[in-house]
Amino acid sequence: MHNDRQLVNLALIGFMGTGKTSVGRVVAEHLHFDFLDTDDLIQTRTGRTIADIFAREGEPAFRALERQVVGELAARNKTVISTGGGLPTNLENLNALKVHALVVCLWASEEKIWERVRNQSHRPLLHDPDPQGKIHELLKIRAPFYQQADVLINTDQRSAREVAQQIVLQFKLANRPER
Ligand code: S3P
Repeated sequence: MHNDRQLVNLALIGFMGTGKTSVGRVVAEHLHFDFLDTDDLIQTRTGRTIADIFAREGEPAFRALERQVVGELAARNKTVISTGGGLPTNLENLNALKVHALVVCLWASEEKIWERVRNQSHRPLLHDPDPQGKIHELLKIRAPFYQQADVLINTDQRSAREVAQQIVLQFKLANRPER
């Protein structure tokens, strides 16, 4: 871990449907941290849904809003930050998070992701004639970014509670006083 990092927050990255939001809430409860979700922040700020932003202004406009939010997160303290699935594919976003947060990636197999997202309709990137193919394609592109997290946790066989426990442990280890 670099010395110039202050791990006062915890950021969750990972593909859609890996449980960032549900796990993040449990982690925040355990650590007595605030919880914040970048998509929620964007929606509250713009008064529009993510789907609406994608539909009317396109993905680049959404990514610009994400970058803006990431810039503001540096001022946070004791916060669990759940991020949108595409946010860390901009390396500047990922590196900015690393300055103040331990970055944990939740990983899941394509099959598990599909199982978790197939009955949800709020994700514009999966409004595709072949959503499973899209998941495959995006995962391949994004894997190298997700793998730059400090900690990678496979969520396939674990409940949200178990994943949260692992994360809390890793956060405490990362912040233990140096001996
Ligand atoms: C996206 C993931 C979504 C949301 C937007 C784009 C992506 O967040 O930010 O629909 O690019 O993977 P979740 O990962 O919370 O679903």
